[in-house]
Amino acid sequence: MVNFARFISVMHSDLIFTSDHPLWDQLAADGYGLINDFLTREEVERSLVLIHLREEEDRFHAAGIGALGDYQKNRIIRGDYICWLDPSLPDHPLQFLFDRIRELLLGLNRYCYLGLQDFEFHLAYYPAGSFYRKHLDSFRGRHNRIITVVCYLNLKWQPGDGGELVIYPEQGGKITVEPTAGKAAVFLSETIPHEVLEARQPRFSITGWLTKTPLGTGFLLQD
Ligand code: OGA
Ligand code: MN
Repeated sequence: MVNFARFISVMHSDLIFTSDHPLWDQLAADGYGLINDFLTREEVERSLVLIHLREEEDRFHAAGIGALGDYQKNRIIRGDYICWLDPSLPDHPLQFLFDRIRELLLGLNRYCYLGLQDFEFHLAYYPAGSFYRKHLDSFRGRHNRIITVVCYLNLKWQPGDGGELVIYPEQGGKITVEPTAGKAAVFLSETIPHEVLEARQPRFSITGWLTKTPLGTGFLLQD
């Protein structure tokens, strides 16, 4: 017989994005927020295993800029390689991540009234020497991207390795985010300019967007 009491308590203790999570106020005040323990070390390791598998399968491709109509690959603007994730795959190795993203999405709707409906995520690899110049994410958005989430997977990152995310809040100034394993950066896709400084070591992340509209699977065909 199913032990419902246990099931409910496990579900409850797993909840991260409760009403008192600092992210809601950070996003409202500054347009961005950082979560240092978004992924556990074990989850980071599982994500890296998938990245290496997809690399071996040759599933990464040079990321492009612009929507379908003005598709171009411009390595002067960005030098990363990406592989889109299909959350509908049965027994997806990143199911834990999609569950957490769904929980985040529900929290954002409940506490920030964002009306989010869906998400799209890709694996990202920045080889040494690559970067992504200052930009807004929404210009690439054919899908009403509202919130950007970047999850970092760099277990051995140290100062000097480069690849920091620089966020330019609306109030001015700039925030430099070290891309250390387990951390997530969350920000408003349409209003927060940001850039990735040149990586001096290979840099891995999972990047995605929470959207206002349902996506279907068309996003899997994007650059
Ligand atoms: C992006 C992006 C930031 C990062 O992929 O659009 O800005 O820190 N990524 O990887
Ligand atoms: Mn971006």
